[in-house]
Amino acid sequence: MKILGTGSYLPPKVVTNDDLARSLDTSDEWIYSHTGIHSRHIAEADDCTSVMATKAAKEALAAADVSPEEIGLVIVATSTPDYSTFPATACLVQDALGCRNAGAYDLQAACAGFIYALEQGRCWVAAHPDRKVLVVGAETLSRIVDWTDRATCILFGDGAGAVVVGADGDATPRASVKLGADGSGCEFISRAGGARVIPAPGQVPVPFLVLQGRPVFNFAVRTMDAIVRNLCAGVNIEPAALDRIFAHQANGRIIEAVGRRMGLPMDKFFMNIETTGNTSAASIPVALDQAVRSGELREGDRICLVGFGAGLTYGGLLMDWPRV
Ligand SMILES: CC(C)(COP(=O)(O)OP(=O)(O)OC[C@H]1O[C@@H](n2cnc3c(N)ncnc32)[C@H](O)[C@@H]1OP(=O)(O)O)[C@@H](O)C(=O)NCCC(=O)NCCS
Repeated sequence: MKILGTGSYLPPKVVTNDDLARSLDTSDEWIYSHTGIHSRHIAEADDCTSVMATKAAKEALAAADVSPEEIGLVIVATSTPDYSTFPATACLVQDALGCRNAGAYDLQAACAGFIYALEQGRCWVAAHPDRKVLVVGAETLSRIVDWTDRATCILFGDGAGAVVVGADGDATPRASVKLGADGSGCEFISRAGGARVIPAPGQVPVPFLVLQGRPVFNFAVRTMDAIVRNLCAGVNIEPAALDRIFAHQANGRIIEAVGRRMGLPMDKFFMNIETTGNTSAASIPVALDQAVRSGELREGDRICLVGFGAGLTYGGLLMDWPRV
């Protein structure tokens, strides 16, 4: 199977660190030195998760030369669905695109969501080689962060990325995959407001994302290092043999620390966090699309996708682009 096409969308409004420093006790120097982020894209009123997902998906379908009718499944990985629980954002995308022969559902594995969703899509195509799957990662994190909390709001941005997966004559799975979770860390990144909370009459809570940065940082470095090593060991290669690593863009310092632990130079890692911030489930598909369109990612490149997120979840996928 292969990834037949990629697409992405970042909303046009750009918010810089200096913009944030006008209303928050922070600075460009602090944010850049602690995260590698300089600016992020923020959705305006006419954009939300389903709208951005649809824009990215249209690009991916065009690049793949696949019609909406050929899609058998739409999976949207997101932590910021249009509605708090249902309907699934994927159903809104399915309708907007006219994927009238497709099932549609959302997948929630936070920032590792795209890797989980790609794995589901890959397995589904292996079972139904005559059908194609649209896998999207899309987030409007700006609507769930507390813009008065300097420890969290500086990290996140909005956007969407999408890929189309199809059998292309050969439905044999090629990629090596590792998915995992450690629910004991669930309190490190969370957003309340679900069925755990007994609603008080007349109260409409607007819960924000809450984050304990340090333990997440440490988990991310340890886990991404282990996943990449583990996947490489499985195919008897050293991580240095990879052409590129697409690590979840949560914090540039996390990726630098992973590179140091692995003894790899930073140019092994595709980086765009400086201008995107952390776009959660959108981070890896946006990076893939940018790398494809800039010519940095070429057929036959051996790459590793690796991510982690709230849950805590983690996952990695090693592939020879674009074969999965
Ligand atoms: C959030 C994160 C950038 C914070 O960096 P850190 O080096 O751990 O910083 P700390 O939280 O220890 O805070 C250090 C100091 O900086 C301050 N600080 C926090 N945010 C600040 C900001 N935006 N501007 C200025 N100062 C800030 C803190 O108040 C603290 O001050 P104190 O020492 O006087 O108490 C970092 O922990 C991180 O990126 N963690 C991973 C988060 C993540 O990836 N989440 C998403 C997962 S998908």
